[in-house]
Amino acid sequence: MVDLNNALVSSILTGYAGFTTSAGYVGPDYRVDHDISLLLPEIWCRMQIKERDADFLIAHGYLEKVSDFCFEGRTVLASRLGYRITGAFAERFLGRIFELPGAVFGEDMLRPEEQNLAQFAEGVDAIVAAQARVAKQYFEDGSVAAACPPLEALLHIMAHGHYKGMTADDEGVRSLFRRDAMLSSDWYRRRLRAKQSRDIALWTRHIESLTAVPELADRLEESHRQLARVSSPDYLNELEGTIGADPSLHHPWLSVPLRDYEAHMNSQAVAQLTPLAVLFAEALAATKPASVAILGVAGGNGLDRIDPSVTRRIHAIDINPEYLAAVRERHATLQGLELHCLDLAEEQAAMLPSDLVHAALIFEHAGVDRCLENALALVAPGGTLSVVLQLPSETAPAVGHSQVPSVQAHRNHFQFVDPESLTIQLESRGFHQDRTTSVPLPSGKAFWQAFFKRK
Ligand SMILES: C[S@@+](CC[C@H](N)C(=O)[O-])C[C@H]1O[C@@H](n2cnc3c(N)ncnc32)[C@H](O)[C@@H]1O
Repeated sequence: MVDLNNALVSSILTGYAGFTTSAGYVGPDYRVDHDISLLLPEIWCRMQIKERDADFLIAHGYLEKVSDFCFEGRTVLASRLGYRITGAFAERFLGRIFELPGAVFGEDMLRPEEQNLAQFAEGVDAIVAAQARVAKQYFEDGSVAAACPPLEALLHIMAHGHYKGMTADDEGVRSLFRRDAMLSSDWYRRRLRAKQSRDIALWTRHIESLTAVPELADRLEESHRQLARVSSPDYLNELEGTIGADPSLHHPWLSVPLRDYEAHMNSQAVAQLTPLAVLFAEALAATKPASVAILGVAGGNGLDRIDPSVTRRIHAIDINPEYLAAVRERHATLQGLELHCLDLAEEQAAMLPSDLVHAALIFEHAGVDRCLENALALVAPGGTLSVVLQLPSETAPAVGHSQVPSVQAHRNHFQFVDPESLTIQLESRGFHQDRTTSVPLPSGKAFWQAFFKRK
């Protein structure tokens, strides 16, 4: 899926049309081996740039659209073959290699249905069936959720014959292939954010390494400048028109749109957003912190429970810049809110320690290695770490069946964390368990919350 996205997105962004040549049978009368198909690049080299433009070729009758047709009472989906070269193409362009192009590419070779309509229809049916079989695999493994919008539409059409009731001829589908539609799609914005998040991680790593080498102070200064540049929202404008980076390759959470995440968490099968907000409110009420750090803040669930007259500094940390952008927008008036785009499992959290560190359903996703080290380092002396873990259930799956494909595609990345071993580990690291609670959820699962006070 990543390769398909890269190929299609780069073609759309650069306006590069796709051309293919194939080898095999062209109707029952001709077999074409690669000795012929390999001639096509040779011909392409002899065409001027404007002649290789699909619009030019179509407008001048050098390419013709293959249309669906009725045969023995059924529709044969011959339009799946796209456009094909015409006699005029052979005459004008193949003539640059062959003395008598018409002798090599006769009319019945260019239009194989003229050799035998029944066999042509059967051949098209076989292609349509193969497309459906292949496309269905992307639905079975969930990877369709990572497809760019035009590819998603194509996969639906190949697998099920339509996309939201539209065929490949409908403007609603065709417009998805236009450059402006790609640039303005949420999918593409996520791609740019993934690139931004990679670049932030890269310059952060450079700064970490350069800080240890005083004689490279000029480079350190430049790295700080670059980090500020790539971290700014303007950087997304700079990236516009580039291929960006594939969110699903970078980190599973970057390919889950906030809309999908919240739909999943709010779905009947999961119903966790409100209980999580309540647990955050309880941590705030129990500790009355002047500063708080929230690990894995998502869309800012529960931030409305903060009393700004008590809590004056709020560090909201997440790996997904789209989520943080939503937090910024939703809580624009929350005084002291600072957003940090960070991979807690890979990078070091460098902000000032806080009186309360709230880690709700983050260790299951980011693990207990670097992420736990970050959590501990962020707790100020005398401060509290509030941990919320999901307990395993005998009846409900770890990741609830919410029908949200982008979330379901990553269910294997969830790992339960055992409360007892975590408690033992924290006690040995100078934390004392203050209070634990179990909260049953409507789905049959339960949360475990514990407060650990730094001794
Ligand atoms: C299940 S949600 C957390 C729920 C949220 N704390 C609440 O109380 O509603 C997990 C969050 O952690 C973030 N996340 C996952 N892995 C991460 C990582 N390695 N570093 C930082 N954030 C991460 C995800 O983007 C997501 O927003």
